[in-house]
Amino acid sequence: MTQYDIAVIPGDGIGTEVTDQALRVVAIASEIFGFQTRINRYPFGSEHYLATKEIFPDAAFEEVSAQNAIFLGAIGDPRLPVGMIEYGIIAKMRFELDLYVNLRPIKLYDARLCPLKNKRPEDIDMVIVRENTEGAYTGMHGFAHKGQALEVATQTMVYTREGVERAIRYAFEIAVERNKRNTVTLIDKANAVRAHDIWTRTFEIVAQDYPGIETKHAYIDAACMWMIKNPEWFDVAVTPNLFGDIITDLGAMVQGGMGIAASANIHPGRHGLFEPIHGSAPKHAGKNVACPVAAILAAGMMLGYLGEKQAEQAIEKTITDLLRSSRIKGVGTGDHQTTEVGDMVVAELRALAAKV
Ligand code: IPM
Ligand code: MG
Repeated sequence: MTQYDIAVIPGDGIGTEVTDQALRVVAIASEIFGFQTRINRYPFGSEHYLATKEIFPDAAFEEVSAQNAIFLGAIGDPRLPVGMIEYGIIAKMRFELDLYVNLRPIKLYDARLCPLKNKRPEDIDMVIVRENTEGAYTGMHGFAHKGQALEVATQTMVYTREGVERAIRYAFEIAVERNKRNTVTLIDKANAVRAHDIWTRTFEIVAQDYPGIETKHAYIDAACMWMIKNPEWFDVAVTPNLFGDIITDLGAMVQGGMGIAASANIHPGRHGLFEPIHGSAPKHAGKNVACPVAAILAAGMMLGYLGEKQAEQAIEKTITDLLRSSRIKGVGTGDHQTTEVGDMVVAELRALAAKV
């Protein structure tokens, strides 16, 4: 029986609660679909840092990196300096494992979840390919004359031809594989951020290898407008790191809320890190109110990445059925207990397995 080693970093706040439910679902899926998982938990996160002053030691990083997949709950805590734990854990893995694609599906599972008028599930079904290792996130920043009236702050956005090209190529590959609207949209801001011209030019070159795929373009400001006005316009979109971060929060709301949006950080063929896109939500932590759907869907994506496509599909179908039948009433905090949603998904998965 195939066995997968999975490194799990539940992290901070609601991260631990949603991770527990995601792992229950992984355990049931492994029973049903006949594979084994070895779950290796790591305590890293803000609480661990506050107790030990340790962020993510090299030896543990090596260990995590060697496993078949990584699952992260959420990190972030207002008691720590801004960005410290984010750069120490999630950004460290994205950069050092070169997880150059951040894949963020935006899918409306049931019309009643959508805050927009008259949108149906078939109108909102897209994938955002967020470039994940460059742009504004490379950490190249500095301050001069800090704290003085003439203070200067700079941060450099970095784009390499290779970095841009591999993200764009991945987006085209996904469009081919999905075979839905067969469209890739480039979202940039080349009219103001002139360095984005490298995206415009590279996109045109890569597109030539995919004659069956239609290409579109939108500046990020207009893309935000389209996302609300006509989300059906999008199939696959590819965008620089920072824009991808922003537009996927918008997308999460369009699909029903942060409680539903899952993501995969991947270096194809090498590493995969899976996480809900929401944060640690300290004010909801410890109350068993956070929605675990995003984490469960992220776990499904992880199983798909590991080669367990049937398990991934079954998890997605289970969530879809529970949402469409209103057994899961909503994906906000407080619609259900966190554990109650886990119970429902586990029961439904078992029922699904019994039918086949
Ligand atoms: C995300 C998060 C991160 C990001 C934070 C936690 C650094 O918002 O994964 O979308 O900005 O990439
Ligand atoms: Mg974000």
